[in-house]
Amino acid sequence: MGYSNDKIDQIIRISILHDIGAYKTEEIKNLKKFEVSNTGRHSIYGYIILNSSKLFKDMSEAVLYHHHSYKDKDKFIKGLEIPQEAFLIGLADRVSIFCSLLNYNEKRIIDNLQRLNKSLFEPSHTDALFKLIEKEGLINDIVDSTYKLELNKRLESIKINLDKAKEYLVFLPLSIDFFSFETSIHTVSVSTIAKKICEKMSLNEQYKNKIEIGAYLHDLGKVCIPKYILEKDGKLTENEFEIMKQHAVYSRDILEEAGISKELIDLACNHHERLDGSGYPRGLKGEELSIGDRVISISDIFCALTEKRIYKNPFSKDEALGILHSMSNSNYIDKNLVKIVDNNYEEFLECIIENRNSYKKILNDMVKTYNYIANEMDLLCI
Ligand SMILES: [Fe+2]
Ligand SMILES: [Fe+2]
Ligand SMILES: [Fe+2]
Repeated sequence: MGYSNDKIDQIIRISILHDIGAYKTEEIKNLKKFEVSNTGRHSIYGYIILNSSKLFKDMSEAVLYHHHSYKDKDKFIKGLEIPQEAFLIGLADRVSIFCSLLNYNEKRIIDNLQRLNKSLFEPSHTDALFKLIEKEGLINDIVDSTYKLELNKRLESIKINLDKAKEYLVFLPLSIDFFSFETSIHTVSVSTIAKKICEKMSLNEQYKNKIEIGAYLHDLGKVCIPKYILEKDGKLTENEFEIMKQHAVYSRDILEEAGISKELIDLACNHHERLDGSGYPRGLKGEELSIGDRVISISDIFCALTEKRIYKNPFSKDEALGILHSMSNSNYIDKNLVKIVDNNYEEFLECIIENRNSYKKILNDMVKTYNYIANEMDLLCI
């Protein structure tokens, strides 16, 4: 279709993330059915989180409208125009779903696409698609997964480096749940404190960077934890706690699938381990836990102690330090790091509060935007 290579890379990235909002709008079971009402909700959610990341901002409208019918191309929210790529993702989405249905073959897929053409899809996109099917056997490539080889090659070439990674990661805590302020803010606070602790230590810059990123990723697996547990208005039952503990396992699964370095995965997933081996999920101990693992672990605990939770108020300085010292006496966490926290308590706390306030404002704005767009979409009946 004449897109530049850069644009194609951009489209691939955004396509991979196009349903990111479905994690929290509980529509996953509906994603394979197109004609359901409210598919727009996950599109709005996805748009908002991607729009918050510098690197995806430009393409976020394509996600907002990826379920939009071509025949309604003139119906859009003021100020939020529909990019062509929205229809492209919509078409690709549909082809992918057709290909995953057992009773579909190439002919049925083409027939169906032709039937839907012009009303749902942009005709030039379907023309290009039909050529690909006819001349390059696209459907077979999808059904037998050979397309993955080509895709992976392409993804390999658009891998991002550590410096850029931070810009990508901004949206991750939000993908866990931007309606659940505490969960999102917690992730950012842990990363902020981990960075602060690193500043007080003589570690090389690259390692500090990795620790900060590991902290950003530390509770990623919570995307897999049911909302009623994440936001329970009270203490978790033993059974619920066991489910909650699985987030560390899910984080590892997700990150391994994403193919990032083992060092980063360990940093992200070892924060509930304890030096004496009594932590979870692996029961690692002592030397098996790197300095970075230990920094993220204490940052996580420090934040949990100083944050307000539904079932508790923030602990006072004396209470929080008392708990940290007793944890280090029990050989759960690193005593040198407890010393750093003890010596810099006020500075760290101030930093968290500041971070909290600015982040809360961002989240509030996101919820407002979400409600505004949802309302406008209802008014426009899209
Ligand atoms: Fe979707
Ligand atoms: Fe955690
Ligand atoms: Fe955490």
